[in-house]
Amino acid sequence: MATSDLLPIYRNAREWIMEAGENLRQSIKTNIRVMYKTSIKNLVTDKDREIEQFFIERIRQKYPGHQILAEEGVYKEEIKNPYKEWVWIIDPIDGTTNFVHQKCNFCVSVALYYQGKPQLGLVYDPVVDELFYAIKGHGAYLNDQPLDKLEQRPIEEAVIGINSLWLTPNRYFDYRPLQALVGAVRGSRSLGSAALELSYVASGRLDAYFALSLSPWDFGAGVFIAQEAGALASTITNQPIPIFEKTSIFIARPGLHQSIVDQFLSTSPAFQNHATANQQNGHYKRD
Ligand code: IPD
Ligand code: CA
Ligand code: CA
Repeated sequence: MATSDLLPIYRNAREWIMEAGENLRQSIKTNIRVMYKTSIKNLVTDKDREIEQFFIERIRQKYPGHQILAEEGVYKEEIKNPYKEWVWIIDPIDGTTNFVHQKCNFCVSVALYYQGKPQLGLVYDPVVDELFYAIKGHGAYLNDQPLDKLEQRPIEEAVIGINSLWLTPNRYFDYRPLQALVGAVRGSRSLGSAALELSYVASGRLDAYFALSLSPWDFGAGVFIAQEAGALASTITNQPIPIFEKTSIFIARPGLHQSIVDQFLSTSPAFQNHATANQQNGHYKRD
């Protein structure tokens, strides 16, 4: 598809994400119904499902041939081969815990892929009214201002995004290289919304971001936006990201990505084990 043909789809997606954002902005002034999904640590609200339903209705109406991969499973049809189709990847609220507890630092994340290749990515933070987006062939933007191309930065001057959970002993991987990395950089932050943290890498607010276990709806839009701004994206073992699978994500400015791989990641066999554990061959499967 020519990049000009993507623009009408982008305009629709933008209209939808702004409407979803307005809904969420209003809802934080009201009582939100909160439920446990799999445990007390894994929340879902009536708004997650309502926003997901909203996108499904709009997409089905405008693009009936497209497939939809969305977090809450409101859309039941299974995608047989996402690498051959148009696939929308939707996270109705990324950062639901923040939405419930903080009433800020959450976003709506929408991506469109064709045959496994990103075409559109939109991440909207309704509280501060920031829309990060990228359109294939058009680069990355924040509120319609083109994002500057990311430049190199040494490790000791970097501020990285990482959840502190990954710095503690766990059964999946050796946490010590990441602990050493946190000691080597200028600072570390944890926002609690992967899509926003990836967008912050795109806009230079963070220099790198690590996550050990994300789903396509967490990273589908944000990784593309950051790549369009010049970031390098891989798994934690420096492999290509399997877009439709649960995976680790490591994204950083150019130069910084390689330095961190060389000095902190590639020598740890335990990271390899984690990557293997996540390998699922084929389309995305829920836990
Ligand atoms: C979560 C957030 C969080 C990340 C979790 C995700 P949700 O998404 O992105 O930052 O650490 O792995 O599940 O559940 O709020 O949509
Ligand atoms: Ca999410
Ligand atoms: Ca979510």
